Amino acid sequence: MADRYLNFTGTAPGRFLTRRLGLPQPSPLRRWTPEHPYLEGELLLLTAGESAHGPELSTVLSRTHLDLAAESSSPAAVVVDATGISDVPALSEVHAALHPVVRSVAENGRVVVLGAPVSPSDHHQAAAQQALEGFVRSLGKELGRGRTATLVRMSSAAAAESTLRFLLSPRSAYVSGQVIEVGETEPPTTPVDWDRPLAGRTALVTGAARGIGAAVAEVLARDGARVVVLDVPSAQAELVRVADRLGGTALPLDITADDAGDRMASALAPADLDILVHNAGITRDRRLANMPSDRWDPVLDVNLTSVLRTTDALLKSGTLNRGGRVVATASIAGIAGNVGQTNYAASKAGIIGLVRSLAPVASAEHGVTVNAVAPGFIETKMTAAVPLFIREAGRRMNSLAQGGLPVDVAETTAWFASPGSGGVNGQVVRVCGQSLLGS
Ligand SMILES: NC(=O)c1ccc[n+]([C@@H]2O[C@H](COP(=O)([O-])OP(=O)(O)OC[C@H]3O[C@@H](n4cnc5c(N)ncnc54)[C@H](O)[C@@H]3O)[C@@H](O)[C@H]2O)c1
Repeated sequence: MADRYLNFTGTAPGRFLTRRLGLPQPSPLRRWTPEHPYLEGELLLLTAGESAHGPELSTVLSRTHLDLAAESSSPAAVVVDATGISDVPALSEVHAALHPVVRSVAENGRVVVLGAPVSPSDHHQAAAQQALEGFVRSLGKELGRGRTATLVRMSSAAAAESTLRFLLSPRSAYVSGQVIEVGETEPPTTPVDWDRPLAGRTALVTGAARGIGAAVAEVLARDGARVVVLDVPSAQAELVRVADRLGGTALPLDITADDAGDRMASALAPADLDILVHNAGITRDRRLANMPSDRWDPVLDVNLTSVLRTTDALLKSGTLNRGGRVVATASIAGIAGNVGQTNYAASKAGIIGLVRSLAPVASAEHGVTVNAVAPGFIETKMTAAVPLFIREAGRRMNSLAQGGLPVDVAETTAWFASPGSGGVNGQVVRVCGQSLLGS
């Protein structure tokens, strides 16, 4: 479903009229294309407080394809190293660093603030570092013109390289107002080729016959993965088309089947699995008072129980390789709740619980990371079915004033899946243009 309003505000009369009426001014987002795979321009690196990462951080940032600069009249990105801020007075240095330059950040530009892990024992450091969260989330709401703001809490610049490359690229166009924690990896994992980081890896994507799942499979294949695409048997024709287009394999299977995990494992043999993307999902909306159990059960079964069951089976059987990645799909409805979606929001909140609990265990026992994407309003068949006025509100009620595309969720999934993202574990990252819901 085309976003006619976005197209209209892109014309001179449309811009004039909507400005006069004080209506939202979405900027067309710059996404990854083969011709323009990177952000172009200068990257301004600023420091607030004493940095523990100085030279290593500059080296990592110099590999983002942006030109590292100490001054710039219109930077494509600004990185503020605030990792050394350990008390509240020092926060004024964050203000002093960004205040003079924030207006000049280019359209579709990025502001990335680097913080340190919040200390459990030093409440002055904790107050100052937590303050950065409110700062970044507010900045994301102020920036406009397709610009985004993100906070990355990191303990090493090397471990954060894949995250910084993602955020400082067109791949993260619809990710804003997020807080991402990157832990240590020993030794830091690095792709052989950052432009094809998934080369030699095998990925299985559920619900991949259409919508977000098909886009995920496409982006993982673009990044070098061999893809196995799974969907219900009734979607086999569409599924085979996706598999053929990507040179992958189709696996028609209902994930709610008791033996779905075993059948996934045998479909993968003799190869093992590196990336498991739980994308399949359904809605059966109705207010709780009107919701019979036959609308409740299938939603919990597809969106949550089958994710738990198949993940457990593939971990237990050793099908998921060390260095493997599990990416599950939550939703902003699972964070904010939504009228008519007690079943769906429960299932998606359950995904968040699963991710946070399993992540440290899967990493310690299997060397596998577990993360979730939480999409906001994404332009798919699911959202095209939403009534017009609710759809229009969903599209505009975020800092970028537009809906996301399936590819935005796919790019975030590919970043989680990267061999370079070993330090990204237990994270729930919203791909929602910083939706006002649940922020
Ligand atoms: N579109 C959005 O705005 C949005 C927002 C938040 C979260 N999500 C989530 O993103 C995921 C993809 O959403 P979408 O919009 O692409 O949906 P979609 O309905 O277009 O695609 C979902 C796919 O999952 C498949 N599927 C459903 N039940 C299955 C089962 N039992 N076994 C195997 N496959 C099954 C469907 O056949 C379909 O191809 C879902 O988990 C959804 O909840 C979407």
